[in-house]
Amino acid sequence: MPFPTYRSRRLRESPALRRLVQETRLTPSELILPLFIVPGHGIRQEISSLPGQCHLSVDQAVTEAKTVVDHGLPAVLLFGLPAGKDPLGREAYSPTGAVQQAVHAIKRAVPGLVVITDVCLCEYTDHGHCGVVEGERIVNDLTLELLQRTALSHVEAGADMVAPSDMMDGRVGAIRACLDDKGYYHIPIMAYAAKYASSFYGPFREAVQSTPQFGDRRSYQMDPANAREAVREVQLDIVEGADIVMVKPALPYLDVIARVRQSTDLPLAAYNVSGEYAMIKAAARLGWLDEERATLEALTSIKRAGADIIITYFAKEAVRLLARGGL
Ligand code: PBG
Repeated sequence: MPFPTYRSRRLRESPALRRLVQETRLTPSELILPLFIVPGHGIRQEISSLPGQCHLSVDQAVTEAKTVVDHGLPAVLLFGLPAGKDPLGREAYSPTGAVQQAVHAIKRAVPGLVVITDVCLCEYTDHGHCGVVEGERIVNDLTLELLQRTALSHVEAGADMVAPSDMMDGRVGAIRACLDDKGYYHIPIMAYAAKYASSFYGPFREAVQSTPQFGDRRSYQMDPANAREAVREVQLDIVEGADIVMVKPALPYLDVIARVRQSTDLPLAAYNVSGEYAMIKAAARLGWLDEERATLEALTSIKRAGADIIITYFAKEAVRLLARGGL
């Protein structure tokens, strides 16, 4: 039915009509806000590379968690900075680490909030890699035990879910086995299943000082050129016991999100990473684009591509924008 019988513009006449036929709707209930926990007390220090995001000590993280709940957001994802770094990232699995303490304090103050923890060593190792280093090699199987200990320490502190982001082979299975062995068979794993070796993590690495001291992460994170491999990575993590799978980053990988969506019925998360956030913030500061519209457009595109869950530094802002009518 071509023009003039059919006219696409009929359904674009008014805001109410456009809302009526909108195919993709963003809601607060699918957004997760990352938080950066630091040792100490009374610390709420803005991260220069992530405007609007702060380093939070445990007490401030509790305050923030209450705000997150007030926004109607269901979950936070905790990252930690240690007091000191060493080759084996010991503070990652210390029961008194900042993340472990924050998990405990947040669950006590706001039990209804889902507390997810990032499980990785790179914030805690002095070389900045996500695994044990021998020479210039990142040793896979030795790393697994440290990841198990890290995940277990988070769950023992009260974490509702763990999210391994290291990209070592076999880590989902190793963590699943460890948690099951300790009776934590009810704790889900959100696997960073298809995580690319991306330049878009730049602002995050500045925030946690985790830039590798030698080499890069390409021997464990994925080649940005590969999409079929993402489907394979996702299938492997599902076989190993992942409950939620993730594609990361999001915006430069919308095709990967769409492909993975076709390949599994599991909940699919996408990580709208620090560089994606920083680009919009920086361009808006320069007056080059409308921050509010760009934010909602970017998040909507990630959902349109097939993500059920979006991890984003924009989460609180997005809730405010959605309350004002959305896109
Ligand atoms: C690794 C980890 C990274 C991010 C989340 N987990 C960085 C990396 O792999 O170098 C990046 C998140 C972001 O850029 O927002 N533990």
